[in-house]
Amino acid sequence: MTLQFKSRVQGALLERENLGLTRSLNVLDAGNQVSTRCGDALFVNFSSNDYLGLASDKELVEAWQKGLDIYGAGSGASPLVTGFSPAHASLENALCEWLGFERAVLFGSGFSANQALLFALMRKGDLLLQDKLNHASLMEAGMLSEATMKRFKHNDVQHLSKLLSGDENTLVVTEGVFSMDGDLSPLTYIHHITRNNAWLMVDDAHGVGVLGEYGAGSCNSVGIKPEILVVTFGKAFGLSGAAILCSAELGNYLTQFARHHVYSTAIPPSQAFAITHAIGMIQTQEWRREKLRELSIVYDEQLQSVEGYVKTATPIKPFILGTAEKAINASCQLKNEGFWMTAIRPPTVPEGAARLRITLTANHSVQDVSKLACALIKTMESTL
Ligand SMILES: Cc1ncc(COP(=O)(O)O)c(C=O)c1O
Repeated sequence: MTLQFKSRVQGALLERENLGLTRSLNVLDAGNQVSTRCGDALFVNFSSNDYLGLASDKELVEAWQKGLDIYGAGSGASPLVTGFSPAHASLENALCEWLGFERAVLFGSGFSANQALLFALMRKGDLLLQDKLNHASLMEAGMLSEATMKRFKHNDVQHLSKLLSGDENTLVVTEGVFSMDGDLSPLTYIHHITRNNAWLMVDDAHGVGVLGEYGAGSCNSVGIKPEILVVTFGKAFGLSGAAILCSAELGNYLTQFARHHVYSTAIPPSQAFAITHAIGMIQTQEWRREKLRELSIVYDEQLQSVEGYVKTATPIKPFILGTAEKAINASCQLKNEGFWMTAIRPPTVPEGAARLRITLTANHSVQDVSKLACALIKTMESTL
């Protein structure tokens, strides 16, 4: 038998290239800061998910360093073996107290938390209803799980309620803030219609830290409590990792059956220590959220009449350009003007909805946003 891997790899790469959709890595110095460098060129970074500006914050760096002094480098094992330290336990407790749940279960990433939950919970005959724009980690796990998965139209409560009318054992999954569009899920309505006939899972990767009282996220901001809440530490927390918040019983179930928790090395204790410190910063440093609101107003004022602009209540500002080619052209032109902005193309977003994904952080200045707005207007006038 002839092995086909080589021709498969070559064919897939060629197809991506022909479609103009090849992705590549860029080496960025200080990619977690507003002022970033690629090669010799300096850029103002409008692409990170470091919404609160914590990723390079001295106080947080020092907390991680202190964690290293106390606990050493790695966790040494998976959580159920010897990898669960006092730092992990404190982090779980801090999350529960802050977000109002009985249990928190830690994971190395949001991707693995989402996959672990769906694989552990869903069985044959169950119904999994997901917003059409949910993150790849949720969609992929849903497709691979034993359950029947259906997608409801983005943020369409009526469509969801039609799909809910059966009597299957049902889990509804939505993001709190959608990662590529920056819009909010209608959580109050979804919570209302799922209350008696389904469990609700909210992935609040982009809402926690940014929305709600003391940054407690999307659910807190509208006063609902889902059965399952996923928070990730790679965005507003400025670090990485994730947790599933749930009841004590479901937490116990995940401790037994969530394979990405059971069979994977625990995050380093120093990292857990730093994440706990970040929670304190998120809760007490309200100025970071105020700054985001101020920058958002400046962005809206300057760009609201420009074609492609979309209003959002979050630091994620999609600027829709249509074709992948247009998005790439705009991103290149803006790079020439000193702004780093990633073009987001299919398959990450639907065909015809290629865009610039502009993100604001608490470390941007009003001038940064004003200058970006001018450059964006110039780009729209000249190239598109
Ligand atoms: C909505 C959402 N969920 C989950 C993830 C995955 O989180 P992580 O980066 O921690 O794997 C992302 C990452 O971009 C996301 O946007």
